[in-house]
Amino acid sequence: KLIHLEESIRPYIDLIDTLRSVGIHKDLALPTIAVIGDQSSGKSSVLEALSGIALPRGSGIVTRCPLELRLKKVTGGVNWKAVLFYRDKKTEFVDSSLVENYIEQAQNELAGRGVGICDELITLEVMSPDVCDLTLIDLPGIARVPVNGQPDDIEKQIKRLIMKYIEKQETINMVVVPCNIDIATTEALIMAQKVDPEGKRTVGILTKPDLIDRGTETTIMDIAQNKTIPLRKGYIMVKCRGQHQINEKISLEEAAQKERDFFQKHNFFRCLLNEDKATIKSLAVKLTQHLVDHIKKSLPQLNEQIKKQVWDLRNDLKECEAGPPQDPKGTLIGFINQIKYISAGELIIEENLFVQLRME
Ligand code: GDP
Ligand code: NA
Ligand code: MG
Repeated sequence: KLIHLEESIRPYIDLIDTLRSVGIHKDLALPTIAVIGDQSSGKSSVLEALSGIALPRGSGIVTRCPLELRLKKVTGGVNWKAVLFYRDKKTEFVDSSLVENYIEQAQNELAGRGVGICDELITLEVMSPDVCDLTLIDLPGIARVPVNGQPDDIEKQIKRLIMKYIEKQETINMVVVPCNIDIATTEALIMAQKVDPEGKRTVGILTKPDLIDRGTETTIMDIAQNKTIPLRKGYIMVKCRGQHQINEKISLEEAAQKERDFFQKHNFFRCLLNEDKATIKSLAVKLTQHLVDHIKKSLPQLNEQIKKQVWDLRNDLKECEAGPPQDPKGTLIGFINQIKYISAGELIIEENLFVQLRME
């Protein structure tokens, strides 16, 4: 088990997931965590370690569509269950080894076979007692040089897609940066800084600490301790499975143990453990807390946006003699019904508007 979470977190994550599932994100920007970074920086490895779900991975451009990963911790009976959504398709399955295949299949359908990318979202909802309550969006990695069959402007295309997600004020940007490169020149960090100059909603993830060059430890420690490129939400260093460990089929649980050992034994990085700035487990706890804080902060704004939409709709209805639509499903009336239902205390003022709307 990765992590045990406080009970207070669940309802907020549910609220956001439910809002998204009724399609409200088309009109309202909802908080989420987007994972960005260069190709092969370790994004899939971090997501895999956080979720316990084996995602498509490799050395080329593997993630070719945005992938929304909704993790739900469930107890009682369910071992592992997933639902994959894209376009109007919905596939349920209980064999976790099928995830990679299904996602690849979906990507081929949406982005075509090969090396192209696509803006359309694939959603994978996973219910298991062993996951933590998080919703993450994986995005294609930044590629500098087009490979055979890719358009010349592939870097531009990928950056535009990434921008679409990270420029939203409601998005928490999880920037994945390997320790064994020049961190200050990392494209993803530069992009995140552009949309979030104060670093209020950017978290840095430092990967591959086992692959650093000797002599660079103190430089990396300065970054990890937020002294070099300060981000309000700081950095977390993680060690995921390397290719060798994957080939040897080391389980994620074993990998988590090895990660802990690695940090405990490391002369320089050891102290990050005590500061809660290392390990996947700390990352999971921090991310969830960031997300909950963010959702709490966004609620009043969300409320305002909904009120405005109801107002607009009411005006439209006034002009339309036919009256309210017969089937409330898929209309704002339906949405508001849902919102009232899920969030009891928080958005209660919608009730008045809802009643008025019905009477008209
Ligand atoms: P992505 O393209 O950003 O999704 O990167 P991947 O997650 O596919 O990782 C690229 C390669 O780096 C894979 O072979 C991983 O096994 C390896 N890798 C990821 N994280 C680590 C780490 O912390 N240590 C080591 N040694 N290898 C890692
Ligand atoms: Na990769
Ligand atoms: Mg990947």
